[in-house]
Amino acid sequence: MILRELLQQTTARLKNIPRAQREAQLLAIHYFNKDELWLITNQNSEVDVGDNYFAMVAKRAQNIPLEYITNRVSFYSQEFYIDEGALIPRPETELLIDAVKKEIDQGSTATFVEVGVGSGIISIMLALHFNCAKFIAIDISPKALEVAKKNIKKFNLQNRIELRLGSLLDNVDEAFEYLVSNPPYIANGVKLEKNLSYEPQNALFGGEVGDEIIRDLLDAVLSRGTKYFFCEIGYDQKDKIQSYLKNRCYESLEFYKDYSGFDRGFTLRLQ
Ligand SMILES: C[S@@+](CC[C@H](N)C(=O)[O-])C[C@H]1O[C@@H](n2cnc3c(N)ncnc32)[C@H](O)[C@@H]1O
Repeated sequence: MILRELLQQTTARLKNIPRAQREAQLLAIHYFNKDELWLITNQNSEVDVGDNYFAMVAKRAQNIPLEYITNRVSFYSQEFYIDEGALIPRPETELLIDAVKKEIDQGSTATFVEVGVGSGIISIMLALHFNCAKFIAIDISPKALEVAKKNIKKFNLQNRIELRLGSLLDNVDEAFEYLVSNPPYIANGVKLEKNLSYEPQNALFGGEVGDEIIRDLLDAVLSRGTKYFFCEIGYDQKDKIQSYLKNRCYESLEFYKDYSGFDRGFTLRLQ
């Protein structure tokens, strides 16, 4: 088949997906293991497609995220492995990395703990920047830990990031200076868009109200001598977090907004 015709046919098959033409191009680039230049310069070339190409297009037509089909996702200008075991990293989480970089010296030899490591993007990006620090990265999901393990190996950080299976800080007995987390923070029962149904639900839902895990982590850092807590939150959780911390002892609490102007996270300095 001619590439141009294949792309037209694929675009038609993906008509229920926004940006169908672009999605068709990305699937072809992935399937043929080529790049944008090849796509532009080979429109009239004959290409060989097997059933697995059409199976891949059928998956995308069912709204399965492109990242789960290609097993690739980019975050903070790096490429990571991804599959259905872990949440697809979101661009706004890059702001959490920036919040940490803003406060902590690059030469820090401290221990960071991340709760809810998922694909590993946060701990990995921080370990690449703070190259003398140590990382303990926790997740309740063994499948997410498998994804994180692949990415940690890809970046050769096996000696710097220790993965642990567990809930919250239950398996962290040692002292640590910095806690970082992008926890699940959507209230149970909130109806989500169809494409989100393919992502692990325990990566999205944080409890009846939504901020339960954030509150548990706040309790933990307030009682454990942690120096800083950096956390991503839902757009409507700022006031609840401020009230929760009323009459508690800490140095400062600063919120940041995401690219759309919504409240998206905070830096809590405890000492
Ligand atoms: C929103 S995802 C974040 C994943 C990744 N850090 C990121 O930013 O893309 C939340 C992660 O927390 C994990 N998680 C949910 N409940 C947890 C708990 N009680 N203790 C530890 N991890 C938990 C989920 O399995 C999921 O991987």
